[in-house]
Amino acid sequence: MARKRTIRDADVAGRRVLVRVDFNVPLDEHGAVADDSRIRAALPTLRDLVERGARVVLMSHLGRPKGAVVPRLSLRPVAARLAELLGRPVAFAEDCVGRPAAEAVAALPEGGVLLLENLRFHPEEEKNDAAFARELASLGDLFVNDAFGAAHRAHASTVGVAAHLPAYAGLLMEREIDALSRLLEPERPFVAIVGGAKISDKIGVLRHLLGRVNRILFGGGMANTLLVALGYDLAESLVEADRVDEAKALIVEAQARGVELQFPIDLVVAEFFNPDAPAETVEVGRVPAGWRALDIGPLTVERYAAALSGARTVFWNGPMGVAEWSAFARGTEGVAAAVARHDGYTVVGGGDSIAALKRLGLDGAVDHVSTGGGASLEFLEGRELPGIAAIPDAEGASGGAEGAAPGTSGGAAAGAGGATAGGGGERRP
Ligand code: 3PG
Repeated sequence: MARKRTIRDADVAGRRVLVRVDFNVPLDEHGAVADDSRIRAALPTLRDLVERGARVVLMSHLGRPKGAVVPRLSLRPVAARLAELLGRPVAFAEDCVGRPAAEAVAALPEGGVLLLENLRFHPEEEKNDAAFARELASLGDLFVNDAFGAAHRAHASTVGVAAHLPAYAGLLMEREIDALSRLLEPERPFVAIVGGAKISDKIGVLRHLLGRVNRILFGGGMANTLLVALGYDLAESLVEADRVDEAKALIVEAQARGVELQFPIDLVVAEFFNPDAPAETVEVGRVPAGWRALDIGPLTVERYAAALSGARTVFWNGPMGVAEWSAFARGTEGVAAAVARHDGYTVVGGGDSIAALKRLGLDGAVDHVSTGGGASLEFLEGRELPGIAAIPDAEGASGGAEGAAPGTSGGAAAGAGGATAGGGGERRP
């Protein structure tokens, strides 16, 4: 992908810089920020702008209030956490448009930071309404998009405003694009570990990965659907029955492309879907009638850790089981530890995978932790994300009209042993 112009290409001193961030963070039962990773991830951009004397106006969504004002989804607690992390005051505007926003922006000193209230309290945001985008744009002299996590959304704050203001990528956006682009042209061998509840959520990215990877290791609920496609009985496990044919097609395509697929060889199964349910570990073909698989077993973890050996690139997305329940988190944590130990280029995406890394204190041990969930998957599907497309390329990056408005295989055959399939410039506004 051509390099996007970034805040380094912009003269920001004294200017009102409207920055789209992704502060869609989890809040605890008291309404405080439960995980501030996404706020921390935006700090390099914010510090740079503050140090250069910009007037920084931040906008974000939080949750899915569906166009209504939902007090528990106010960004106010996020402003408080941001102020602590930045070590400077962060003003807060009660609304992202209208008088509260305009007055708060007018009161901002050079180097000042303001956070606007939740964009999604207005239905126009998700509709990319032109008038709403114009209103937002009136709060800035230039626009910076640092919200990689929301770049797959064509909303007023990610796309609409770029029609009215010169647009730049923030440093987080740049880092995400660089890190994930390395997975589109990876150093091989490339091993992907893909988990999560549903194969339907990942089929697009899996198809795309088949053209690039040497090996895919599966876990989580989605592995159940693949195991059914291979002929196993998963009893009461979560299986997407309407996706079994697609799962079969994926296995056939992997074989044709020489991509090795590995599936769980043992499973932690439970009598009920409950964190305290009676549980035991069984071989893949032996889920007792009425029970369900809630995690991969220890032999699978060992096998998957060994399967990373020699990989120059590793991408992991999605938990190996019900990782939020400690009795069923060992598979995910085992994989997290193996990825963190690995020497090659390692990228992790998806909330539960990242949470497992953090629980083990290993998030600093991987090369890149993506702040994007859906956005990173769509990026890896090779799709152009609207929020990225709206930022012009850097001068000379594409040779085009820069600045213009944007408009190792080797497993056994499928089913054998149940574990493996396949063969083997300055832009002034
Ligand atoms: C995310 O959490 O993946 C982003 O903030 C996007 O949120 P959304 O799926 O509600 O658009």
